Order: sequence, then C-alpha cells, then structure tokens
Amino acid sequence: MLDLLVTHATLPDGRSDMSVAVQGGRIIDVTAGPAAQAQAQAHATFDAQGQLLAPHFCDAHFHMDSTLTYGQPRVNASGTLLEGIQLWGELKRTLKQEDIVRRALAYCEWAAAKGLLAIRSHVDTSDPTLMAVEALLEVKRQVAAYIDLQLVAFPQDGVLRTPGGVDSLKRALDMGVDAVGGIPHFERTMSEGAASVKLLCEIAAERGKAVDMHCDETDDPMSRHIETLALQAQRLGLQGRATGSHCTSMHSMDNSYVSKLIPLIAESGVGIVANPLINITLQGRHDTYPKRRGMTRAPELMAGGVTVAFGHDCVMDPWYALGSADMIEVAHMGLHVTQMTSAAGMKACFDAVTTNAAQIMGLRDYGIAAGCDASFVLLQAQDVVEAIRLRATRLKVWKRGTLIAQTPAVRPVLNLP
Ligand code: FE2
Repeated sequence: MLDLLVTHATLPDGRSDMSVAVQGGRIIDVTAGPAAQAQAQAHATFDAQGQLLAPHFCDAHFHMDSTLTYGQPRVNASGTLLEGIQLWGELKRTLKQEDIVRRALAYCEWAAAKGLLAIRSHVDTSDPTLMAVEALLEVKRQVAAYIDLQLVAFPQDGVLRTPGGVDSLKRALDMGVDAVGGIPHFERTMSEGAASVKLLCEIAAERGKAVDMHCDETDDPMSRHIETLALQAQRLGLQGRATGSHCTSMHSMDNSYVSKLIPLIAESGVGIVANPLINITLQGRHDTYPKRRGMTRAPELMAGGVTVAFGHDCVMDPWYALGSADMIEVAHMGLHVTQMTSAAGMKACFDAVTTNAAQIMGLRDYGIAAGCDASFVLLQAQDVVEAIRLRATRLKVWKRGTLIAQTPAVRPVLNLP
C-alpha cells in the first residue's frame, strides 16, 4: 500500500490530471489520470483538484546568521551594501550564539510554511571565534528533518583583508561547513580580489568542496571577478560546483565585453545566482537619474547556456528590511526587473527558484518524477504563471511524503453595497 497518493495535480511543465504515488519518502510513480490499480490504495489520498504541485522551493543564496536582526543596532540609513557591512560589523560584536540559533530556527519555520525546504546560507567566518559557524551548524542539525541547509564559509570582511582570515575560513571547513565562499570586490584592490578568488578556488579544489563566491556586488563596470572565477573554476576542475553570486556589475558592463564574458562563464560551468530583491535596493545608490537597477543579465546568461537561480539573500537584516522566506516573491521581483515577461520568461523565473536553484545547490533526486524525493508543495494556482501572479498560497507542504505545513486557501469574503 502507498503512503501517499496525490491525484488530479497539475505539474510545473503543464501536464494536468496527474497522479503522484509516494512510498518510503520517495515518488515511485507519476502517471496521467488515475494511478495504476495496484497502487491505488494509499494510507493518505489527496485530490489536488487541478492545482499546481511543484517540487519544493530552493534558495541558493541566503545569510542566516544575520536574519531577523533588522534595526539592530540601528537602521541602514544610506541603503548601501557598504553601510550594511559596517552595521553587521557593529552588531556581530554583541551577538550571542543562542540568539543566532533562535532567529535562524524562526526563519526556518517561516521557510517550511512557504515550501522552502533547501537553503544555501553563507555564514560569516571573519570572527576568529567562529561563533556564527557553530550556531548555524547547530541549526543545520536541528532542522535536518525538514530543511536541507547548506553552509558556505563566507569571509564577510575579505579573506585577505582580515587578519587570520584564511585560517578562520579553513577552520570553519574543518568544522563541517559545506562550501567555500569569498567576497573579492571587498578586498583592498582588484588584484587582491583576484588573488582571493584563486586562493579560495584552490582551497575548494584541495578539499573537494563547492565554491560559491559573492562576485562583483557593485555598480563598478570594471569589477570583473566573475571572469577570474570562471577561469579558476575551469583550471581547477570545479565545473558544476562553482557559483558566482550577485554579479551586479554585469548590469553596468560594456556590451562588447559581456559578449565575450557570457560564453566564458558557460564554458566554465559556473552557475550564477542573482538576488533581485536585494540587488535592486542596494545598487544604484550612487546614481542620480537614470538610476541603475544592479540586476545581473539573467535572461542573456540563460540564453547563453548558464544555469541562473534567483536567491533571497537577506530577510530583515542590516541590508534589507523586508522579506518572508517567500521564493515566489523573489521570482516575482526577478521577473519584473529582468523584464522576463514572455510566457517562456515567466516560466524561467519559476525555474530560477526551483529546478535551477536545486541544480546549483547540487541537490540529488529533486523534482516531480519517479525516484525523486517526495518533497513538494501544493499551490493555490492553476499553473506557474498564476503562482507568481498571485504569490500563491502554499496549501500543503510535504517533506519526504510527510505533511509538514498547511495554510488555508485564500478566499475573499466580499460585502459589496
Ligand atoms: Fe549575499
């Protein structure tokens, strides 16, 4: 007998009236129409009534050590990345490990309710005590039953610019952090930034880790660390496990240079994570008008064969006042700021917070297909475009076949004259 049978579901690829059979935490069958007779008996059966059943959302770029600290010790008045880094520097001196754990667990509950069940979070390794690393490793253990939490060792103040930065980052990896991060545009000079990319990629290659680097999070059109990351990833055989995050400088780069850069990124197998909510609010702050939006060239990268995901990056922290762990909100903003308004473009924005993000995170067995993990979300929408348009309610969230969250359907009650 099956553990779970979902019937009359619409899938993200548009197939409708589908039955999804689950046993032992895995999808064992996806069929059009009713499930096969032998499998029709299930401990739990749910009629999706034509609504969208999607694989769970994935956030390939987040900062869980700073989340839910908005306003502490004060609000970011300039709205810039640099003031955010300065504020975080002040705040982290006062943080306690239990506070980081408590806030991160609260965020993970928000995430589960929104069907966000895989998160790649950067964790600041600039503090030599590595308190935030210990805190998020504890969170990773505590949420393992419902969220796949990947951690990236992130030298927020620059791995070369911070005394002992390399040592702290390596110790974080020794403690069990999953991937190597970096912030080359915050090193002292362009050449030190490039040297940090090379060094960090070498550390990742030596240890068999993924690398996920904040790259060129600036409006400076000459910030070109993504080029170095692509080169080093290729040189060191990191294809498929190297990611460049943000890449906002690509918004401002010369078109002729970009025409060479995009094929280089595609050739290197480096994935790109844009963070639309944060990129459009932090960038362009030195402009008058026209005011740059700072969003990387997502549709052009996708057309060039690069895997592009959209991440949330921040929720209620020194860089961003808003957010609610809602990856559809991220897709919605990404769609607008990239003008990906064609039918295919809107579908690609949904992919950017589901399948593309899963690919960048290296998730195995992800999707709605036989053999995949039965971790999926039922949305109050008929298809992916409607899901984005309505920022659809997550009616039910299953993790490996177990129902872990439910939200009642939204139905307006009118009392018109
Ligand atoms: Fe970030």
